[in-house]
Amino acid sequence: MRGDAGAGRLAGRLIGLGVTGSIAAYKSPDLVRRLQAEGADVQVCLTPSAARFVAPLALEALSRHPVEQDVLALLPDGRIGHIVLADAADAIVVAPATAHWLGAMANGLAGDTVTAAVLATSAPVVVAPAMDGEMYAHPATRANVSRLRDGFGYTIVEPEAGSLASGQSGVGRLADLGMIVDAVVAAIGNRPIRAPDPGSRPPVVETPRPADLEGRHIVVTAGGTAEPIDPVRYIGNRSTGRMGVAIAEAAFARGARVTLIAGLTSVPLPAYARVIRGESTAQMRAALLATLSGPSGMAGFDALVMAAAVADFRPTRPAESKLTRGGSLTLELEPTPDLLAEVGRVSRGLDSEGAATRRPLEPRPVLVGFAAETGSLARAAGKLHAKGLDLLVGNDVAEAGSGFGTDTNRVTLFAPDAEPEPWPLLSKRAVADRLLDRVAALLDERDAARQTALMTTEPADLREPTR
Ligand code: CTP
Repeated sequence: MRGDAGAGRLAGRLIGLGVTGSIAAYKSPDLVRRLQAEGADVQVCLTPSAARFVAPLALEALSRHPVEQDVLALLPDGRIGHIVLADAADAIVVAPATAHWLGAMANGLAGDTVTAAVLATSAPVVVAPAMDGEMYAHPATRANVSRLRDGFGYTIVEPEAGSLASGQSGVGRLADLGMIVDAVVAAIGNRPIRAPDPGSRPPVVETPRPADLEGRHIVVTAGGTAEPIDPVRYIGNRSTGRMGVAIAEAAFARGARVTLIAGLTSVPLPAYARVIRGESTAQMRAALLATLSGPSGMAGFDALVMAAAVADFRPTRPAESKLTRGGSLTLELEPTPDLLAEVGRVSRGLDSEGAATRRPLEPRPVLVGFAAETGSLARAAGKLHAKGLDLLVGNDVAEAGSGFGTDTNRVTLFAPDAEPEPWPLLSKRAVADRLLDRVAALLDERDAARQTALMTTEPADLREPTR
C-alpha cells in the first residue's frame, strides 16, 4: 500500500477522494498522486457522471484500491465499501464538487458513493467546488455551500477565477491542487490515525508481480504439527496454515512449481500445489527429507519456506491404545528434531555434529524460517544463524492483527549481515509477496554466482557430484 512507509505530511493516513461530474474531474489522477506524494493511502469514490470524465481503471491503478462507484455494491469480502471508507478515512476530500453534489450533500441525499461516504463519516471533510461562474454565484449554490461550511463544519476550498469550460471567465475553476492538499493536511491536524490496520481499510488491489519464479521449485510448509499422545489425542498448536498457504499461492502466481507440506491446517489447501500431508514432526521430517535431495546430489527444490509451527516437544512413548480416564496423567516429553536446522545441514553437506561429510547440495537451496515469538523478537536473529538460514521472518504472535488465524501480519525480516527490517502491518498475501521478492532476488544472485564459479572452475572440478 502506498503511504505505509514514506514520510510526508500525510504519512500513514487514509484519504477518501470523492470525485463528482465536473470537467475538472480530469485532474483527479493528479490529485491522487499529490496526496500520495505526501505519504497518503488514497481510496477514490466516483459518482456516475464523474465516471464519464475520468476512467475508473486509471484511478484504481493509481490508488491501488477498487474505485467505489455503486452505492449498493458490496466489496468482495461482503463489507459495504462506502462505510469502510467512512469509518477508516482520516479525511474525505470532494474535488471537484459540482453544484448538484453540493445540493445533494446539503440535504443529506445519499444517492451516490461520495455523498454516502461523507454522510457516514466522522472524519474531517474538505470540499473543493468547480462549476460555471453563474452556477457558483446562484443563491441556491451559495446557500448549499454555507450549509456545508457553517452547518456541517466542512472546509471549503473556494474555486478560483479564470477561464471556464464554457469559454467564459468567472469564479468557478477548481482550486489549485496544492491548496486542496494543504487544506486536507490542515483539516486533519494532529488527530491520531484512525485505522492503521490495513484489515479495516478498503481492500488493496495487489500489484501483479512478474513471473520471476518460473522454472523454480518452491517448497512451503504450513500449519501446526500434531504429536500423538495416544491414537485419538495429540499435542498441537494454534497454527491454521493461513500464512503458508498465502506463500504457496503467491509463489504459484509468480510461476513457481509449488509443493506444500501441510501439517494440521484449518484453511482450504490449494489444488495447484502438490500437497503432501505431514501431520507429526516425524512425518513432516520424512516428507522434507524425501523432497530435499534430487538425483545425483542435486537439490530437490530451489527454496524452502518453513512457515509451519513445528512442535518443540512430543510424547516420548505415545500410548498404543486410547488412554482411559483414571487418576492423574503425567506425560513424558522429548525434544523433537529441528527440521529446518537439519535441512540446513544436509544442504551444506554437514552431519549432525557439523562436520563436512558429503558434498553440499547443488545448487544450494534458499532457506527461509519463521519465528513466532511473544513479546520481543530478540531471539529471532539468533535462530537465523543457528539454523543457517538465508532469511527469517519474525513476528510477535501476541500482537493484535498478527499471528494465528488473522488475515494480517506485522513481521520483521532478518537476513545475515543486515539490520532487521520491520515491515508494516500487511495482509498475509502481501507479506508473502514481499518475502518472495527477496527469495527471487536471492535465487538470481545464487545462480549468477554459480555461473561465474563454473566459468572459472577447472574442467576436472565439473564432474557430477557423487555421494
Ligand atoms: N522449526 C523446525 N523444527 C522444529 C522447530 C521449529 O523446523 N522442531 C522451524 C519452524 O518451522 C520455524 C523455525 O524453525 O521456521 C523457528 O521456529 P521456532 O519455534 O520459532 O524456533 P525454535 O528453534 O523451535 O526455538 P524456540 O521454540 O525455543 O523459540
